[in-house]
Amino acid sequence: MALNIVLFGPPGAGKGTQSERLIQKYGLIHLSTGDIFRANMKEETELGILAKSFISKGHLVPDEVTINMLKEEVLKHPNAKGFIFDGFPRTTVQALALDDFLATMNSSIKVMLALEVEENELRERLMKRALVSGRSDDADEKIIQNRINVYKNETAPVKTFYEKQNKFIAIDGIGTIDEISARIYDAIENN
Ligand code: AP5
Ligand code: MG
Repeated sequence: MALNIVLFGPPGAGKGTQSERLIQKYGLIHLSTGDIFRANMKEETELGILAKSFISKGHLVPDEVTINMLKEEVLKHPNAKGFIFDGFPRTTVQALALDDFLATMNSSIKVMLALEVEENELRERLMKRALVSGRSDDADEKIIQNRINVYKNETAPVKTFYEKQNKFIAIDGIGTIDEISARIYDAIENN
């Protein structure tokens, strides 16, 4: 059975940081929808230009666009041992689409690991990263706040979707990167 993980959490929670560790340890494919959008923005593809108009304001890219992109990426890795979905699903519509899509491949999500970090710490991390990231959505405090608000209103409800399937695990996202990795490994190996 594939080890498919949804790595969930608000902006700046450490999804990307912890994904790096997980792909090494478990040999998984990392799919960050944010990273894929940014790569497209850099290349100025049609998708990138569309995505930029939402991302630079801190809004979500429309579900249909995001879901189709994600499916294409999954299909590029037919022999994957499993995937880390980082930043996807971000709406209940996306979560449903992911379940349906994986089912067509006789696969499913094993667990949602949700990094929990309080808002002040998120803001601090993102404002610090803004100095070096070059990300348009880090550039401005208002946009950062908008991303956090969108998370609370549109994305946080996705937890309930996985709770109902008994797949939800909260991870304390405060501490050193190593401490948090250890919590994640423990959650994967003991569930
Ligand atoms: P996305 O790229 O997913 O960004 P995000 O969710 O806002 O989160 P970040 O990538 O900023 O944070 P992260 O949790 O990965 O944390 P990181 O490890 O970098 O999405 C961007 C945009 O794309 C969205 O706003 C939306 O517009 C669009 N989009 C993406 N997916 C979409 C979808 N499914 N549907 C629709 N639209 C979508 O860490 C953050 C910082 O903290 C780093 O500097 C890091 O070094 C530091 N840090 C990490 N761990 C620690 C620690 N333990 N202690 C202190 N600092 C730490
Ligand atoms: Mg990230």
